[in-house]
Amino acid sequence: MEDNVILDVKDLVLYYSTLRGTVKAVDGISFELKQGETLAIVGESGSGKSSTAQAIVRILPRNVAKYTGSIIFNGADIMKLDDEEFRKKVRVGGISMVFQGAMNSLNPVMRVEDQVAEPLLINMSYSKKEALTESIKALKLVGLSEMVGKRYPHELSGGMKQRVLIAMSLVTKPKVIILDEPTSALDVISQANIMNLLKKLKAEMKFSYIFITHDLGLASEIADRVAVMYAGKIIELGSSESVYLTPKHPYTQLLLNSVPTLRENRPPTSIPGEPPDLVNPPKGCSFHPRCPFAIKGKCDVEEPDIIEIRDGHQVKCWLFEGEKG
Ligand SMILES: Nc1ncnc2c1ncn2[C@@H]1O[C@H](COP(=O)(O)OP(=O)(O)O)[C@@H](O)[C@H]1O
Ligand code: SF4
Ligand SMILES: [Mg+2]
Repeated sequence: MEDNVILDVKDLVLYYSTLRGTVKAVDGISFELKQGETLAIVGESGSGKSSTAQAIVRILPRNVAKYTGSIIFNGADIMKLDDEEFRKKVRVGGISMVFQGAMNSLNPVMRVEDQVAEPLLINMSYSKKEALTESIKALKLVGLSEMVGKRYPHELSGGMKQRVLIAMSLVTKPKVIILDEPTSALDVISQANIMNLLKKLKAEMKFSYIFITHDLGLASEIADRVAVMYAGKIIELGSSESVYLTPKHPYTQLLLNSVPTLRENRPPTSIPGEPPDLVNPPKGCSFHPRCPFAIKGKCDVEEPDIIEIRDGHQVKCWLFEGEKG
């Protein structure tokens, strides 16, 4: 492991048990996050992005069927910690997360400044006064005034609520912040404002970020590297530039063509077929039923490994078998 790696995820697996069978939401993924880096995790809805994040911060539903792998953070495998150690070493100033759709889970009867201060009171031994001072500082960092801190959630716009959640995630001064679709529920203008805020925070603060989105364009705007997920697996990973400008995996190419763009004058095309069923994912390459390049007798039988083709650009597809770098 390189010195500047803050989070090293290896073979992470998270399955859920359901009446229909076992849902393989995260199926053996590996990636590194470097100090000060922003890594985006991109994929269609249901590809396992939120499950990956929840597996890292160990906020799991009751129906977990399998939860394995290693997550090296700060030199220790946090998968091996008991819940109390995990709370002390990871929750407090370690890894924090802004959950998908959390905008509506703010406490309606608590002032904003008190909610932002709460993590410091619950998990750290701050006095009420110190916690409030830190809360106001965090609110200012995300562009909200002291006056906004006195308000209640229903008095805030969606963009302001999202800022409050970001303030809550950074008030404990974590090393890693995971943002799960922080702009998806917002209108275009608020989305652009939040993106600008995140870019500013990225430039000013020494956090490392995992930015989760279904929008590859948005990902490449903010991230240093991008990991593309499909059916619980990472199928392509590389620098933002490399993945956005020269996507290799057929799924990444289709994903890129499926979003409207202002830069090129072409209509968006949808990805053919249905997202896979994670209870019974397709054999071989899980993308084969939808892939225009699938090789019969190979792609539907054998699963390709993820291989590096050049400069850290990795791809999991039989088409690149001969390009192993
Ligand atoms: N608690 C759960 N029990 C059963 N299936 C779940 C649970 N949570 C998520 N899933 C399923 O796991 C898969 C991955 O979900 P998720 O991680 O939320 O994907 P994404 O964030 O990429 O949309 C989906 O098929 C989803 O329906
Ligand atoms: S391995 Fe085969 S089916 Fe899978 S993406 Fe590559 S060409 Fe398509
Ligand atoms: Mg999600």
